[in-house]
Amino acid sequence: MNILIVGGGGREHAIAQAVKKSPKCTKLYCAPGNAGIGEIAELVDIKVMEFDRLVKFAKNHDIDLAIVGPDDPLVGGLVDAFNEAGIRAFGPEKKAAILEGSKAFSKDLMKKYGIPTAGYEVFTDAASALSYLEEAKFPIVLKADGLALGKGVLICNTKDEARNGVKTIMLDKKFGTAGNKMVIEEFMTGREVSVLTFCDGKTLKVMSSAQDHKRAGDGDTGLNTGGMGTFSPSPFYTKKINDYCKKNIFQPTVDAMKAEGRDFKGVIFFGLMLTEDGPKVLEYNARFGDPEAQVVLPRMKNDIVDVMEACIDGTLGKIKLEFEDNAAVCVVLASDGYPVKYTKGHVITGLEKFNDKDGYYCFHAGTKKTSKGVVTSGGRVLGITAKGDDLHKARSNAYEATSWVDFENKYMRRDIGKAIDEA
Ligand code: AMP
Ligand code: GLY
Repeated sequence: MNILIVGGGGREHAIAQAVKKSPKCTKLYCAPGNAGIGEIAELVDIKVMEFDRLVKFAKNHDIDLAIVGPDDPLVGGLVDAFNEAGIRAFGPEKKAAILEGSKAFSKDLMKKYGIPTAGYEVFTDAASALSYLEEAKFPIVLKADGLALGKGVLICNTKDEARNGVKTIMLDKKFGTAGNKMVIEEFMTGREVSVLTFCDGKTLKVMSSAQDHKRAGDGDTGLNTGGMGTFSPSPFYTKKINDYCKKNIFQPTVDAMKAEGRDFKGVIFFGLMLTEDGPKVLEYNARFGDPEAQVVLPRMKNDIVDVMEACIDGTLGKIKLEFEDNAAVCVVLASDGYPVKYTKGHVITGLEKFNDKDGYYCFHAGTKKTSKGVVTSGGRVLGITAKGDDLHKARSNAYEATSWVDFENKYMRRDIGKAIDEA
């Protein structure tokens, strides 16, 4: 099969690495990709929102399967564009990707179908949001309705902070049109877990769980980022909790989307909080997590192309999804200063030391190949992933491997996976 992956981050590198293992894959392309993906796929110089060019490329190169990685093109309808041109594509159509694209939609869906989540209200103007705050309890959580690069969530401890937050989202439009509507919701406490699932519109299969580290600094301090590291599985996500979630959250979500005429085919990422009152949904994403994919996919035993085709064909019920009985940890090497201000273009050394067969992976996120060699080109640069028999071993392997590569402003958190000590 000729396969095209759309995207160019660590998630897409992890997907590419899994697809490359499939005996079904004869030719792999990635648009736009990055330096690491370029080692295993032919890079195509087309950006993820250039739908017409992507469709044309797919037609001209007899693409048998297109895999769409990031949220923006999914929410914008790239899968619909491929389908209209007769190209099989993995990922939700626009009408289903709204599960991630609109927080107001997803909260209303959960309310309508009784799926556990934080209490909330939706607002379409700043004045009503501000007056709601007068009687509210703090801390409180403000969310821009639309996509905001993972930054549209503000946790406000006081009424003043929340008033400023409403202004930031709805009046100053810091997150653009994503802030035309907003959700104000109850603050929850508990441990967070990311659960990725494959869906074929009616059946859902759960992948091994993971935990992300969203803040930039050690001890969960500093600004929110795209994710500074992950581990899988989460020791806090027990079989009992998984059984509860399947029955009360996962299948009800798939059924709800179907009942709304928005059959979801692709990956639903459930961002959960394990609260004292049981697991509740923090957010839905309509795609693999990044860097969750980097610790989940290397542990998957199935041929990913088989699973993706089953999602498209509605035959997921026939697939037995299997994961290795081990663990993986991913430590993100970022450019110092991320997510605010940082320099780029620094040469990266030591990349040749990784060999996937040993259970060590160097997933590229923000890298570029130049005449000087491979250089940094983004905030998150590399995702260093290692497997181990258990989480402790995986963690020490991953940190050991972070020393194999170097670049001028290399920065990482030192406490990725430290939470396992509390399990
Ligand atoms: P989201 O993009 O919705 O996952 O939100 C980003 C982060 O904000 C989450 O990973 C949580 O750490 C935090 N968060 C979101 N909603 C809530 C909530 N209702 N209560 C507490 N923390 C939240
Ligand atoms: N790691 C969180 C996300 O992919 O949204």
